[in-house]
Amino acid sequence: MTRIDIALGERSYPVLVGHGLMNEPSAWNRWLPDTPLVVFSNEKVAPLYLDALARVLPDHELHPLVLPDGEAEKSFDNFRRAVDFLAERGIRRDACLLALGGGVIGDLCGFVAATWMRGIRFVQFPTTLLAQVDASVGGKTAINIPQGKNLVGAFHQPSLVVADTATLDTLDPREYRAGLAEIVKCGAIRDADFLDGIEARCEALLARDVECVVDVVGRSVAHKAAVVAEDEHETGVRATLNFGHTFGHAIEALSGYTRFLHGEAVAIGMVTATRLSELRGLCPTGVADRLSATLQRLGLPVSIPDDMTADDLMSLMSLDKKNTASSRRLVLLRDAGQAVIHADSRPEQVREAIEASRTPTE
Ligand code: NAD
Ligand code: GLY
Repeated sequence: MTRIDIALGERSYPVLVGHGLMNEPSAWNRWLPDTPLVVFSNEKVAPLYLDALARVLPDHELHPLVLPDGEAEKSFDNFRRAVDFLAERGIRRDACLLALGGGVIGDLCGFVAATWMRGIRFVQFPTTLLAQVDASVGGKTAINIPQGKNLVGAFHQPSLVVADTATLDTLDPREYRAGLAEIVKCGAIRDADFLDGIEARCEALLARDVECVVDVVGRSVAHKAAVVAEDEHETGVRATLNFGHTFGHAIEALSGYTRFLHGEAVAIGMVTATRLSELRGLCPTGVADRLSATLQRLGLPVSIPDDMTADDLMSLMSLDKKNTASSRRLVLLRDAGQAVIHADSRPEQVREAIEASRTPTE
């Protein structure tokens, strides 16, 4: 088992990464309070793992709340359903919420924990690769509203994250590959050696080799931990975790959130952002092609579809949360492993990068 501490003073917490951790409660149950646990899960994950969790927590009073599956369920309606559930069960401030699922369940559960009685404890048991390396760590919680994704939320840190990589065994291959995009992102923005290591281990990653997966999940979490400890509320360096996301969010939004998974859109966005970095003369030529080749080997898309116009994408990009009233910002690369936050000052280059990302180069 690997333990990574998120160092945030009195709100510090451990992220535990290991294969089969759920069945080893002695590794993590000391961080659970001896109070009722409300388990948020969904109709896909609960039949797979809720009984196993209940078995290893025989002394806890468990209250399962099983919601429908899907991004659309990270909604105000389910926030309301959840707080009604807490009220009906008489859940008090000393209770603890537990998210058993992917990023959708984690974000919703975290937001309920942030707001119930002005904030109660919650713990994360992420069961997707994307949630293990990204969504469960760092305390961003949110729900969606019709006007946009994650527009209503709060920073609220969990008190424990248990990333059992054995739960990934049941994950759909496409969902698994989408999580790999966020792992590549960690290498691309902070660690060229890690990126080299991913390139060298594409086949092992795709085969879900246990040792390799535990290693890359742990190293990705360690990167996120360092960034979050430095900039919990995203006033600076944390924005680099959004590398590829400004283009990616526009691609997701333009296709109605149905054509691409988040990680797939981020893969396309990372390649486009790197092409833009090269066009700006920030980054050596060839980094974008190399990143594109790695992502393709991992089974991820890298091209902007022809039916998405640059005008439409750029208009959606202007709504990005990183922008302020006076400036538009993009995360670019100085080189593989070195991200930089840059003013989005040259729309003609953004357009050129979009057009250059329409055809895979390999
Ligand atoms: P998800 O939660 O929808 O999970 C993807 C699919 O996999 C779902 O159908 C889910 O039911 C299923 N699933 C989950 N675990 C499984 C398992 N072990 N076996 C079989 N099926 C399983 O999606 P996601 O990709 O985990 O997360 C995406 C969400 O995370 C988005 O809402 C995004 O906004 C959010 N997010 C949050 C942060 C953050 O910092 N808070 C960061 C990145 C993404
Ligand atoms: N997913 C980006 C962040 O947590 O900041």
